[in-house]
Amino acid sequence: MKKISKAVIPAAGFGTRFLPFTKSVPKEMLPIIDTPAIEYNIREAINSGITDIVIVISPDKECIKTHFLHNEIFEQFLIKKGKTHELDIITEMPNTINVKFVYQKEQLGLGHAVLCAKEFIGDDDFALLLGDDVYVGNNGPVLKDLIGEYNQYQASIIGTLKVPQEEVSRYGICEPLGEEVNRVVKLKGVIEKPSIMGAPSNLAIGGRYILTNSIFKYLENQIEGSGGEIQLTDSISRLLEDEEVYSYLIDGKRYDIGSKIGYLEAIIEIALKRDDLKDDVSKIINKIMQA
Ligand code: G1P
Repeated sequence: MKKISKAVIPAAGFGTRFLPFTKSVPKEMLPIIDTPAIEYNIREAINSGITDIVIVISPDKECIKTHFLHNEIFEQFLIKKGKTHELDIITEMPNTINVKFVYQKEQLGLGHAVLCAKEFIGDDDFALLLGDDVYVGNNGPVLKDLIGEYNQYQASIIGTLKVPQEEVSRYGICEPLGEEVNRVVKLKGVIEKPSIMGAPSNLAIGGRYILTNSIFKYLENQIEGSGGEIQLTDSISRLLEDEEVYSYLIDGKRYDIGSKIGYLEAIIEIALKRDDLKDDVSKIINKIMQA
């Protein structure tokens, strides 16, 4: 039986929804309290059993790389000061993961970003986590649930969420074949950002995928689609003609941190879950509500 041990995290896009911040700092480095957003997805991958991660960055996003490497000067400083707790914090990531970086030199779309990771992935099937989607799973990391389904079906699994009808045009939308059983349904098609009228369902692609290696065959000659970009969804749609593809309704809370409101929601809710912050944050919220 094939296993999933590799993951791709695309992080090369411009963060136009977060200007002016993203003029000089990648949106993936937006802090959710004290931790860059991308680290949440890296942790999700590691806690789901992923051992090898490739982050697709653009040449002006070197600071993402810096975050996951050792910082000798800072580490020496903390050692000298006896700040072992802080030292543990900054060495945890570089000591834990095998992370590699590949460059996407032109922002041609998600499909193109995934194709940039082809060499790293080799012949394996792999996981894909999109940075704008941060999840707090109901039963641990949500990617682990998708990997569980892959282990059963040995096929591509698209993580989905149900969205209100008026929001379908913001997502890739699935066309199910038959009834959903235990959150899983076989797919007949997928379409990127359809019109409200043209959407086959309200089952949206939620930024988590397990993809079989054959996806690369389609990505290699994928023509531009929605928004003039090389769309992963279009290649999945072609993959579907040759292989079974399933969707799995993600069991967890999603934060769309690519939007200002989603980002704020993530910070507030995650702060309310943290032992070191929840009491003080609740007090502030109560104070604001009573004002
Ligand atoms: C991407 C995918 C889309 C998916 C969405 C989830 O779109 O292309 O299919 O539904 O992520 O966040 P983007 O939001 O990058 O335009």
